[in-house]
Amino acid sequence: MAPGALLDIALELALEAGRLLTEERPDVLRMTTKSSRTDVATHMDRASEDLLVAGILARRPHDGILGEEGGERPGTSGVRWILDPIDGTTNYVYDLPIWAVSVAAEVDGVVVAGVVEAPALGRRYFAALGDGAWEGDPGSPHRIRVTGETDLGLALVTTGFGYAAARREQQAEDLRILAPRVRDIRRLGAASLDLSWVGAGLLDASFESGLKPWDLAAGGLIASEAGAVVSGLHGRPAGESLAIASTPGIFDQLHDALAEMGAEE
Ligand code: IPD
Ligand code: CA
Repeated sequence: MAPGALLDIALELALEAGRLLTEERPDVLRMTTKSSRTDVATHMDRASEDLLVAGILARRPHDGILGEEGGERPGTSGVRWILDPIDGTTNYVYDLPIWAVSVAAEVDGVVVAGVVEAPALGRRYFAALGDGAWEGDPGSPHRIRVTGETDLGLALVTTGFGYAAARREQQAEDLRILAPRVRDIRRLGAASLDLSWVGAGLLDASFESGLKPWDLAAGGLIASEAGAVVSGLHGRPAGESLAIASTPGIFDQLHDALAEMGAEE
């Protein structure tokens, strides 16, 4: 299956899910808690995931699906979809517009297509492996590129915090050390957008430990197709222990600072 064909499906479904989340958002959201009492899913997370899963199965019934809210559904085609029906749920709950629907497709374990749809911001980012990263209307998109920053001291860097108190304590400690070494730090609240914005040059770099595949899959491809280095520490792939996405000119400086801090799970 060509990445472009999977990307077309991802674009169509992410747009539909984004519409549902904006147009049918009720005044009162019903919430359940997950790993901690601040890690919540709303009934809109589930409605968005249901829409995405039904759309995939209607088009490609033999594909596997990994969704944040629905778990893993095995497939037989070699294609697996990785879904975050709302990335940035806390922002969505507070009606802060920094949230997105993240849809990625893997073929034989390699992410080949990804969409980060942020309807409350009017932004959409997408990429297919080997075909660059793009923003906007799929009919008339514009290509995105990372910044040309080469000095960590001038870099705008974003990160995120997990939901578990112990991890947050470590992450706060890492920031105490990093903050004096960069231009500034942002905590925006949606990892898929952090990664897309590194790709689009709105940020120079992002890093976070504890990200799940659905936080990373689409945004990671968008960042790397836009020219970012997307990696863990010491050449390991970006993953749950640490994901760094950085414009190439500051990657080594940021990597070494994070390695020195022991910024992993
Ligand atoms: C969270 C957001 C947040 C990041 C957390 C993620 P969710 O995803 O991406 O920015 O810091 O690690 O869990 O829970 O809103 O889908
Ligand atoms: Ca989510």
